Amino acid sequence: MEKRGAVKITELDKSFKDNHVVNQISLDIKPGQFISFLGPSGCGKTTILRMIAGFETIDGGDIEIDGKSVIHLPPEKRELNTVFQQYALFPHLNVYDNIAYGLRAKGKKKTEIQKAVTEALKLVQLEGFEKRMPAQMSGGQKQRVSIARAIVNEPSLILLDEPLTALDMKLRKEMRYELRELQQKLGITFIYVTHDQEEAMVMSDYIVVLNGGNVEQMGTPMEIYTKPKTEFVSDFIGETNAFEGAVADVFENELHVKCESGDFLATGANVSKMEFVNISIRPHQTMWSENPVQGFSISGIVKDFLFTGSYVSAIVELINGRKVRISRLAGTGLPEQGEHVYLYWNPEDAIVMKNTTGNVPQMIEDMNLAEWIKM
Ligand SMILES: Nc1ncnc2c1ncn2[C@@H]1O[C@H](COP(=O)(O)OP(=O)(O)O)[C@@H](O)[C@H]1O
Ligand SMILES: [Mg+2]
Repeated sequence: MEKRGAVKITELDKSFKDNHVVNQISLDIKPGQFISFLGPSGCGKTTILRMIAGFETIDGGDIEIDGKSVIHLPPEKRELNTVFQQYALFPHLNVYDNIAYGLRAKGKKKTEIQKAVTEALKLVQLEGFEKRMPAQMSGGQKQRVSIARAIVNEPSLILLDEPLTALDMKLRKEMRYELRELQQKLGITFIYVTHDQEEAMVMSDYIVVLNGGNVEQMGTPMEIYTKPKTEFVSDFIGETNAFEGAVADVFENELHVKCESGDFLATGANVSKMEFVNISIRPHQTMWSENPVQGFSISGIVKDFLFTGSYVSAIVELINGRKVRISRLAGTGLPEQGEHVYLYWNPEDAIVMKNTTGNVPQMIEDMNLAEWIKM
């Protein structure tokens, strides 16, 4: 499918009276990417999104969509749709009419509308819900209707402002994968606003970390995680242990991952066998044992200790030279200097990201992936 929705932002600037909320930001977003704007509350995420959508005026700079400046166009003339945190459905209209609303306003033919609504409902897995009223639906279902309403217009760009925040944790985690999959199917650009770094990590091709109206860093989740460029990014994202590997086996949601320094378990949906993944695990969730733990075969030697605030980290060097941290509050329960330890963790604590950078473990380069996985 042809990818659509290139967005170019040049020196975009915005103040509300003497509050300078967006400071000359420039971003180049390629078509068909999933981009997250990540940052704390009040850093200007919603304001940037509203300026792209045309709901907010700009003070300076330019916004181009697919090569054309849109800053003088009203919202309805921009080839995009927005999904908000609140569902914003018409309460007196059923699901079908809610989704068809925009197409009717554009004067589309009845048969055309029917086809488009049916297709949109299928994409958000709500076939058969046409006659339901919003009040008869759960939060997750209502948010799916909002998304169907955005995609039915076939925009080249969808803007999503914290769309999962109102949902409970379990549903929120499931919807992350659904949204990512939907974006891949549509082949259009998603700009996704969130203050939740884990959400941004698992969904995005690129993350733009914002702070006080400035871009702190733009990069892949792995780059942001492992190579934070500023102290703010490093503080906001937090320390992590990162592994690049390939999925050797999948049992329901349990992934058996192989990396250069050994095997381990993780949990993830929508990941298949032989796929390359990046895995991150927090130092405080990294556990150690004197003996191997089933499903895990990463081991190393304790080389050093680091003291940061009330935490102490043991630095473990793995066989491939990579260093991993085990952190504990007040340094209790850490292995000793020079000790040989086996590392493991609760598979659910591991954050699984699809490898979009194409950086694969060195060993695979000289070897067939299938052979490497069997090793
Ligand atoms: N319409 C407005 N009028 C005045 N100030 C606003 C308006 N909208 C947002 N702000 C201010 O702009 C800053 C950025 O807000 P916002 O873009 O909503 O941040 P975020 O979405 O990252 O939480 C905040 O200080 C907020 O109070
Ligand atoms: Mg906001």
